Amino acid sequence: MAVYDAQLGLLSHRLHSQVAMHQAYGGVVPELASRDHVRRLLPLVREALNDARSDQGSIDGVAYTAGPGLIGALLVGASFAASLAYAWGKPVVGVHHLEGHLLAPLLEAKSPAFPFLALLVSGGHTQLVEVTALGEYRILGETLDDAAGEAFDKTAKLLGLPYPGGAALAQLAESGRPNRFVFPRPMLDRPGLDFSFSGLKTAALVALRGRVLDDDTRADVARGFQEAVVETLAEKCRRALQLTGHRRLVVAGGVGANRHLRERLASVANGMGAELYYPRSEFCTDNGAMIALAGCLRLTAGSRGSLAILARANWELSGNGNRGLEL
Ligand code: KG4
Ligand code: ZN
Repeated sequence: MAVYDAQLGLLSHRLHSQVAMHQAYGGVVPELASRDHVRRLLPLVREALNDARSDQGSIDGVAYTAGPGLIGALLVGASFAASLAYAWGKPVVGVHHLEGHLLAPLLEAKSPAFPFLALLVSGGHTQLVEVTALGEYRILGETLDDAAGEAFDKTAKLLGLPYPGGAALAQLAESGRPNRFVFPRPMLDRPGLDFSFSGLKTAALVALRGRVLDDDTRADVARGFQEAVVETLAEKCRRALQLTGHRRLVVAGGVGANRHLRERLASVANGMGAELYYPRSEFCTDNGAMIALAGCLRLTAGSRGSLAILARANWELSGNGNRGLEL
């Protein structure tokens, strides 16, 4: 939840994480997620407005995530946003979740101008996107199977780390030795900008088979795995910069919080005469600030949603995509 001002920037943001609630189940339980949204939304709005020293009178519009994602959670957010907009007599706009991630670096002081190339790496998506303007997105490459964050989470599980284990795996990798386990670099031997990460967790499984899972071995596997993912992402970014001629590279999405990835991308950008941009870590993972920013840009550009409740479980970023569930 966040309050964003077109001139002043971000005025406040609040996050209620459901990670602890879902951890016991090893993944997100959709029904629990929706019910918790119902409980949390109203107090969070109050807190965000208080923090920003704003009230409903100073709000010009309401933005919400319209998809893609779990339909129950999306419906809760969409109904709530439409009700708020109706009660306040203000316009409402549904934002694409990935558009929020792509624009998140604009929340920072060092923010990229259009056009730029973006590596979007989250738990559900891994894409290289050319961003020419607000709403102008072209997907240059994407994963053919698992997303990078999903591969991190699955391998973290093999290493006995709690869900979602991406950040914990990265932490464990810090103390690992670099060359004890060398994992394949998927898709680097082929031209193009697509990714594939499902083989890496199998490679990790094979590496661990028959071994005593002592702390050193777990750290060394984490290190080898992280190197393989980061190296693959970095090389595809280098190729994308080369192919498109863009000189601004953005990294966004949960895996964008990975320190090692940022370092490798900074060196790729440097080598190509490009500049690297990323949001602070808390705005890499899912957050309300990026949706408030994207909504503000859309409302300023004249976008207006209807009060119909719009939620799309599947929604392509580029093109018109699927019609979602409109009530
Ligand atoms: O963008 P996000 O918060 O949610 C989705 O839209 O998916 O991304 C969450 C993903 C999870 O897979 C999580 O394990 C991963 O981002 N992640 C990380 C790190 N922090 C979060 N992966 C690697 N290194 C990190 N430091
Ligand atoms: Zn996300």
